[in-house]
Amino acid sequence: MSLQTKYLLDESRMPKFWYNIQADLPSPAPAVLHPGTLQPVGPDDLAPLFPMELILQEVSTQREIEIPEPVRDVYRAWRPAPLYRAHRLERALGTPAKIFYKYEGVSPAGSHKPNTAVAQAFYNQKAGVKRLVTETGAGQWGTSLAYAGALFGLQVEVFQVRVSYDQKPYRRAVMETYGARCVASPSSETEFGRSVLAKTPDHPGSLGIAISEAVELAVQREDTKYALGSVLNHVLLHQTIIGLEAMEQLQMADEWPDVIVGCTGGGSNFAGIAFPFIGHGLRGGRKPRIVAVEPAACPSLTRGRYAYDFGDTGRMTPLTKMHTLGSQFTPPGFHAGGLRYHGMAPLVSHCKQLGLLEAVAYNQVECFEAGVLFARNEGIVPAPEANHAVKGAIAEALRCKREGKADTILFNLCGHGHFDMAAYQKYFAGELTDEHYDEKELAMALAGLPSVPA
Ligand SMILES: Cc1ncc(COP(=O)(O)O)c(C=O)c1O
Repeated sequence: MSLQTKYLLDESRMPKFWYNIQADLPSPAPAVLHPGTLQPVGPDDLAPLFPMELILQEVSTQREIEIPEPVRDVYRAWRPAPLYRAHRLERALGTPAKIFYKYEGVSPAGSHKPNTAVAQAFYNQKAGVKRLVTETGAGQWGTSLAYAGALFGLQVEVFQVRVSYDQKPYRRAVMETYGARCVASPSSETEFGRSVLAKTPDHPGSLGIAISEAVELAVQREDTKYALGSVLNHVLLHQTIIGLEAMEQLQMADEWPDVIVGCTGGGSNFAGIAFPFIGHGLRGGRKPRIVAVEPAACPSLTRGRYAYDFGDTGRMTPLTKMHTLGSQFTPPGFHAGGLRYHGMAPLVSHCKQLGLLEAVAYNQVECFEAGVLFARNEGIVPAPEANHAVKGAIAEALRCKREGKADTILFNLCGHGHFDMAAYQKYFAGELTDEHYDEKELAMALAGLPSVPA
């Protein structure tokens, strides 16, 4: 008997709508607040940063939002993305579980990030914007926006977190190939970057700092807007195409997941795969367990406080209620750069509060070990971020083995690790160690959270 491995959807079956979980939640997520007045922000407050169509998506409660044809036209270059059954990994683990993974590494940038980069570039170009400024942690988001900018004729400037800029020089080369400009953050190009460098000249950088630099630059020019690669409602919305496709593909396999696993940095790839299934459950359908996997060295969902906080270190963004380690917290420089963020998407945080998902944290060495086992069986070398999802899925498969259960596990393999081979080399040389944050620094960052009356 031949075992089916790939579940492919024809281009004609690519979803025409994104799914908006805000339509189905039993209670709305807490309002976004203006940091000065502590009053809910209105569309005009956000207009210097984003085009109006994205702002309206941010607050929309419409269940289905149409994917514009020019965006679908670009998506067709790699979407629908394949769903795989991990037969070989299952055999290697000796588990009765059925493991499926959605592979987002087939995009031009090598991850899920173009799903929103293309949409954001489209809406900005439509609004007459000429230049986009952004941050990048792993380099995946910067690459994706650079690619989308090239397609829609936008100039793109990227602040890449210093530690990842040094670890992955070829990510910058790809961004430049697409025509973007890439600067290491903290940089001397912004007032905030200069203030960080003045205190700590060899600062490793963080997503929170890079966001502040990008926002500072974006608000200075009329023709320029800011683009964020995660966290915001509209970003999570654009990523739901992952879960919507996976639903159809699992139906082709006559399956439905018992458990869904994804890694969480700002929450977008995780929400992308999980939200359509959570929504289906909220509307009366089967409710899979939903597991978010985060790095033990930056554990916002498992160790953070659910509180109002800034999205950036320079305290320039509005306040959102989320699981946070404090905007002044600098995570240690571990290799999953895309997961080094102090906060979490407000919608993911809200779902955690509502008991719609669970969270677990793993250290980097055990995640690389899982990624290598995956590569040696399935052939794909995962990004260090995606290794967290692989580790989470393997932990579930081993639980099934112990319990003698044949659960169906679905996880998001959100990107490949072809630009991360230096980290793999360090792992093989035994030089990769678990990084630990400083408990005192975390306590200080939490003590410094803005005070917002309940
Ligand atoms: C491959 C990959 N996975 C995951 C992430 C984390 O982001 P998010 O939680 O928004 O998916 C990143 C961010 O840069 C990434 O590049």
